[in-house]
Amino acid sequence: MTSRPQVRRRPVAQARDGFTYAEYLCLPRLLDAQRPQAVPAMHDELMFIVTHQAYELWFRLLLHELTAARDAMLAGEAERPWALLARCHTVERLMLAQMDVLDTLPPASFAEFRSALAGASGFQSVQFREIEFLSGWPDRRYLSAGLPAQERDRLQRRLDEPTLWDGFLTVLTAAGHDVSDPERRAGVLAELARARGDRRGLWRLAEALLDHDQSWSLWRCRHALLVERQIGVKAGTGGSTGASFLRSRRDRRFYPDLWEVRSRL
Ligand code: HEM
Repeated sequence: MTSRPQVRRRPVAQARDGFTYAEYLCLPRLLDAQRPQAVPAMHDELMFIVTHQAYELWFRLLLHELTAARDAMLAGEAERPWALLARCHTVERLMLAQMDVLDTLPPASFAEFRSALAGASGFQSVQFREIEFLSGWPDRRYLSAGLPAQERDRLQRRLDEPTLWDGFLTVLTAAGHDVSDPERRAGVLAELARARGDRRGLWRLAEALLDHDQSWSLWRCRHALLVERQIGVKAGTGGSTGASFLRSRRDRRFYPDLWEVRSRL
């Protein structure tokens, strides 16, 4: 009987010159980045930090995908930006579901470590603001919010760049539509909404933008509810009136034209 040659497998993680999973993902740095501040230590603070960090990672990915979608539209493409926006929409659904984790935080427990945040607030999230600028709300007022120079430069760059909406108008123009003024634009959008066949692709792209807009509104509503659930009517650590301030911003939309066209159909 012939015996089979014994194949000795090297662990997959070390297949490339000892390059490991932990190195690829920079895990030592990543897992060393959770620094609870409360004294004495509070069990729930780690969850609070991890969920916020997870959001920042999703924001990082969204910026990558939305920028690529914008650039593809500026190049006159419609198919690839649609696929990229579909990915963003999937991430945004996860971001919405992720709020449930914070609902497991008992408000009395949050009240015990909240002072450890001092003046830190999600309001200062530069990536969140970059997404809003890129999507279509370039608001210069955030530049004067006392940000460190590096963060202010990032926001300034986003303000100087075209938005996703600029990209979409480029695609429409490249397809032969006149979108030079609001009335013509509204007419074009209504025509696309009723389109069949080949022109359907442009409406599909418009709907992908609306999905992004809707997801962002849903996140804002969900976040405002979370805030009310955690701190009631108390002021925010960032200095705002808290839940009422957030509620006042809930109805802001990236693409009012895409919402308004519904009334014309
Ligand atoms: C217990 C959980 C949370 C509480 C109590 C809370 C509270 C608040 C409050 C009161 C504000 C208004 C600004 C201020 O005065 O501080 C705010 C803004 C904000 N928070 Fe939260 N937050 C929570 C969780 C989160 C999470 C998980 C994120 C994800 C990154 C987040 C991101 C933001 C952002 C981006 C803003 C600015 C919103 C805008 O300008 O429209 N927050 N938060």
